[in-house]
Amino acid sequence: MELIYLSRSDVEALNMTMKDVLAAVDNGFRLKGLGKTEMPPKPGIHPRPDSFIHAMPAYVQEVESAGLKWVSGYPANTGKGLPYITGLLVLNDPATGIPIAVMDCAWITAMRTGASVGVAAKYLARPDSRQAGILGCGVQARPSLMALVETLPQLKEVRCCDLFPAAVKRFMDEMGKLFPQLRFIPCNTPADMAKNADVIVTAIPIVTKPAPPLEAGLLKAGGLAVSLDYDSAWTSAAMKECDKFCSDDVGQLLSTKGHGVYFGDIPERVYADLGELAAGLKKGRANDREKIFAMNMGIAVDDMVTAKALYDRAVKTRVGVRLPL
Ligand SMILES: NC(=O)c1ccc[n+]([C@@H]2O[C@H](COP(=O)([O-])OP(=O)(O)OC[C@H]3O[C@@H](n4cnc5c(N)ncnc54)[C@H](O)[C@@H]3O)[C@@H](O)[C@H]2O)c1
Repeated sequence: MELIYLSRSDVEALNMTMKDVLAAVDNGFRLKGLGKTEMPPKPGIHPRPDSFIHAMPAYVQEVESAGLKWVSGYPANTGKGLPYITGLLVLNDPATGIPIAVMDCAWITAMRTGASVGVAAKYLARPDSRQAGILGCGVQARPSLMALVETLPQLKEVRCCDLFPAAVKRFMDEMGKLFPQLRFIPCNTPADMAKNADVIVTAIPIVTKPAPPLEAGLLKAGGLAVSLDYDSAWTSAAMKECDKFCSDDVGQLLSTKGHGVYFGDIPERVYADLGELAAGLKKGRANDREKIFAMNMGIAVDDMVTAKALYDRAVKTRVGVRLPL
């Protein structure tokens, strides 16, 4: 018996595009909506203040992907020149349970997170959205923008804000080369970033005692806010003023809330999870005036469908190292 080990650079060499990841993740959400996935709420350990190491298992029928992501987020790493998010993902053969692959999960996490923003935009943004706003111009911001470009064909302008102006500059330089058709506007404050934005993505560090900079009234009518950072960026009044509050997994949202650290003051009613929207069980945006909020915490289904597509490519192209079990 042997498994395939895929390093970060092996994963990248498999050339999966955002379009490919979006298709896989949208399908994963659809299967989740149809009840064809098994995904318990993620348990975690927290060895340092504001840090987490989460275990994220899932099985996705039809795609036949089963496995576990073991992923950490350490805000203090940034100051040490280390990545905030690191981890490994194990895939098992669903028929026998035997491990078939171990791979770096940083690229997968970033791309599937971006894709979850794209899926939220597909069902919840105004299709004619022209302006995006991004708070936190780090790793997750990049694939989030890639996914918005794929989903919102009329996107023209990106308003960018970060605690560090150098991060905004790096983001604009990199993304400007990738998307020369977009106009990038650096913003000094979160409120300025939000001005007139049709879709706002927030990706700042998740902290246990946040002072959210985005207040009620900042999301425009017809706007969509996608939070990748739990309740760190938007005040509860801002979340509660939205007409629809959605999530990528209601079960996980409520379970995390139940632990008593995050989501203490989110809206009472969660309208839908993205699976229900992707499966056509609930309607997404109903009109051009609705303010909609998507709380995307990141789900293991997204990881497993992406990892399985990478595994299939690695088998076909002989990328990666074969290791005895
Ligand atoms: N929901 C998901 O699926 C998912 C997946 C991965 C990561 N995340 C979360 O996304 C967030 C960003 O992760 P990342 O990997 O991009 O981290 P990162 O460190 O690469 O980027 C975060 C950026 O936010 C900036 N920042 C920090 N505090 C800020 C503030 N108060 N205002 C404005 N900017 C601020 C930092 O300077 C940095 O550029 C984290 O909260 C992480 O846990 C979510």
